[in-house]
Amino acid sequence: MNRIKIAWRAALALAAATLAQGTFAGQIGGSAHDFRNQAWGNGQICIYCHAPHHTDTTTTDAPLWNHEVTSQTYVLYDSATLDATVGQPGGLSKLCLSCHDGTVAPDSFGGTGGSAPTLSGSANLGNTLLDDHPIGFVYDTSLSTTDGSLHDPVATNVTIGSGGEQLSGTIQQRMLFNDRMECSSCHDVHNTFTADGGDMLVKVSQSGSALCLTCHNK
Ligand code: HEC
Ligand code: HEC
Ligand code: HEC
Ligand code: HEC
Repeated sequence: MNRIKIAWRAALALAAATLAQGTFAGQIGGSAHDFRNQAWGNGQICIYCHAPHHTDTTTTDAPLWNHEVTSQTYVLYDSATLDATVGQPGGLSKLCLSCHDGTVAPDSFGGTGGSAPTLSGSANLGNTLLDDHPIGFVYDTSLSTTDGSLHDPVATNVTIGSGGEQLSGTIQQRMLFNDRMECSSCHDVHNTFTADGGDMLVKVSQSGSALCLTCHNK
């Protein structure tokens, strides 16, 4: 076999192995949110967070939610220069915190309490959001005018993701939820439209701080 053939075979074998694991770029399979291989995983991908029926409707805007929701009250972000009015995280961010504040076991889904260890280390944000980028507030043209160094979310374009899957639109369309900043403004929980090869599930690359410069005019 010549060298090109060997290299080609190796590439095909690698691709086959990757597909067999369900690991391909731009997909939840193989990402940090693919729990199939956890001791508490049940072979499915979506079920820890969503179910088709009998879901939890106690959280505003939750999409067919199937995971126990956190009951924490959070210490909120504040600073002398903050212009936004930050409140308790509602809606979508609360869903993330239902695993990432370290109070609810990741296998508490389907209405049954879980017993797996709660998240620890840097993946556990705890109940103080004072040390985290603010979320849970309206980011509109008015805030960008008041602040003076934020891009207007309605007039500024952004491309989410890099490599395979990409999605373009304004900051408002692609990063805000009912005009609000949430965890999912910066992260794609499903790793569908992520940059940096899915590392940290960021929607725009951290290289050159492109993510930050999407909204901050610095
Ligand atoms: C780790 C938890 C988690 C897993 C696992 C998960 N999701 Fe989600 N999903 C969320 C959260 C949180 C939201 C709402 C925030 C957002 O859209 O970013 C959401 C939103 C959605 C939405 C509505 C918004 C959109 O993106 O279209 C759909 C549809 C969806 N998920 C489908 C799925 C499917 C299908 C799977 C399995 C292949 C899945 N999700 C796995 C957490 C999860
Ligand atoms: C302004 C953008 C932004 C917002 C909003 C945001 N994050 Fe992040 N987050 C990031 C970036 C960037 C990183 C990667 C940091 C690094 O590379 O060390 C990150 C990292 C993380 C990590 C991984 C930490 C680690 O070191 O393992 C978790 C978990 C996380 N974020 C959860 C959340 C949750 C939950 C929320 C909402 C409460 C949230 N993020 C809101 C930008 C954001
Ligand atoms: C069902 C529990 C669960 C939910 C809900 C959940 N996560 Fe996670 N997430 C995890 C686990 C478990 C990990 C892996 C933690 C570790 O490696 O220690 C993780 C890892 C991450 C990471 C690090 C990714 C990396 O590359 O290391 C980020 C960022 C993150 N989650 C953000 C979010 C955001 C944003 C939401 C909501 C939109 C969310 N998560 C919802 C359980 C969850
Ligand atoms: C989707 C838009 C968006 C992204 C992406 C984003 N930010 Fe922000 N950020 C905001 C908004 C809006 C505020 C609120 C500003 C205010 O009200 O003063 C804010 C607040 C802040 C603050 C606090 C300002 C203060 O006065 O206390 C800092 C610091 C900051 N962001 C840094 C960053 C960094 C660093 C990144 C990249 C990791 C980043 N931001 C990514 C929109 C964003």
